[in-house]
Amino acid sequence: MIDIFDKCKTDGGYFGYYRKAGDRDLTRPTMDPLPGKTMQYKGNEVVMWSVNNYIGLAENEEVKQVAAQAVQDFGTSSPMGSRMMSGNTQHHQDLEKRLAEFAQKEAAYLFNYGYMGVLGIVSSLCGSKDTVIVDRLAHACILDAASMAKSAGATIRYFKHNNMKDLESVLQQVNKNREGGVMILIEGVYGMTGDLADLPGICELKEKYNARLFIDDAHGVGVMGEKGRGIGDHFGVQDRVDLYFGTFAKAFAAIGGYVAADQDVIDWIAFNARTQVFAKSLPMVYVKALDKTLDFVIAGDDRRKIMWDNSSKLKKGLKDLGYYIGPGESPICSVFTPTGSDDVNGVGVRMVKYLRENLIFVTAVVYPVVPPGLCMFRMIPTTSHTDVEIQRTVEVFARMKKDMNLMDSVNEEDIKKIRKVYRNVKD
Ligand SMILES: Cc1ncc(COP(=O)(O)O)c(C=O)c1O
Repeated sequence: MIDIFDKCKTDGGYFGYYRKAGDRDLTRPTMDPLPGKTMQYKGNEVVMWSVNNYIGLAENEEVKQVAAQAVQDFGTSSPMGSRMMSGNTQHHQDLEKRLAEFAQKEAAYLFNYGYMGVLGIVSSLCGSKDTVIVDRLAHACILDAASMAKSAGATIRYFKHNNMKDLESVLQQVNKNREGGVMILIEGVYGMTGDLADLPGICELKEKYNARLFIDDAHGVGVMGEKGRGIGDHFGVQDRVDLYFGTFAKAFAAIGGYVAADQDVIDWIAFNARTQVFAKSLPMVYVKALDKTLDFVIAGDDRRKIMWDNSSKLKKGLKDLGYYIGPGESPICSVFTPTGSDDVNGVGVRMVKYLRENLIFVTAVVYPVVPPGLCMFRMIPTTSHTDVEIQRTVEVFARMKKDMNLMDSVNEEDIKKIRKVYRNVKD
């Protein structure tokens, strides 16, 4: 008889090959807990390009002090309960009021993790007879949220990443014999590829076909738009976004998330999002720290300017070496390299190892996010990086190309394939 644990002895599952081989280097490396532009890795200081500390708030001393004071005042236990029962405080409500203003919506609601937020919101709103229409490149939490909606009776439809023609055709089909509501689920800034959702196009379609729009702007909030308000503000369409969602795990350098929308929708979510109704509320230390962080985000134009400058310098430095940089319009720098013919993961892994041995920490992304035969280094330039780290990184990439005898760059065919991943971006 099959034992449920049998699979644990195999090399199946996510990154199963590495798990089985006992790798704790490329997967689950042990890192210095203090995030920053440089970090400790295997006893060395490496330049870090893999943390989403976009505007450098992870190191902020004032936020740390507010958090330390909150621990003094409230301990680490507070509040002891879910919002519905005994975990609701005026501090949570005050922060929500500020976040609603920040998002230019009537109301907002807090979650203790972004992932849990997306699951809770979508599953509370979409069920029997409804349809969720999902961008194919959307984050795992959006896909899981859609699955939860499906188990409650909703139908899932997918559209090609950022492809308005495909989205329109799905909407047309759905509306033919529509019996319930329709919600489009997208990311604002696509965290893997760094391109932006075609929001003006999506808003037009969702209005034409009477659908609602949910945006997970994990990588856009604090980064894009005036005062860091995010992708809706960047495109001037925030008033047309029905549900705006941001996590605190990236530019806010904390933990948690929030959704902003009309008051009645937020009330519904507060009473029906099971991932929050049946979970302990956001700890007070984060509520207090985030209140301070929000000040820095709103007043963060100078920080964002440095982040954008650093992004331009890194992209230009690597492009000048002949690397192909993805055309995404966010600060994320996606470096594409060919991995040769049949040894797809092999060359990618050797490149990551080379970079790390040379004290540059990057993370590689392979198929299916990028076309087969290619490897992408997804690098996050932040406000904290300086010219020194950027220069050092560019030098190591230059040496890697020579030492590893890498092909000059991706070829025309590859570029065509890459550009198919990034729809609607011009360069
Ligand atoms: C687009 C997107 N949504 C949601 C999440 C999950 O957020 P959190 O880490 O706050 O749970 C992530 C994190 O990787 C993300 O990139």
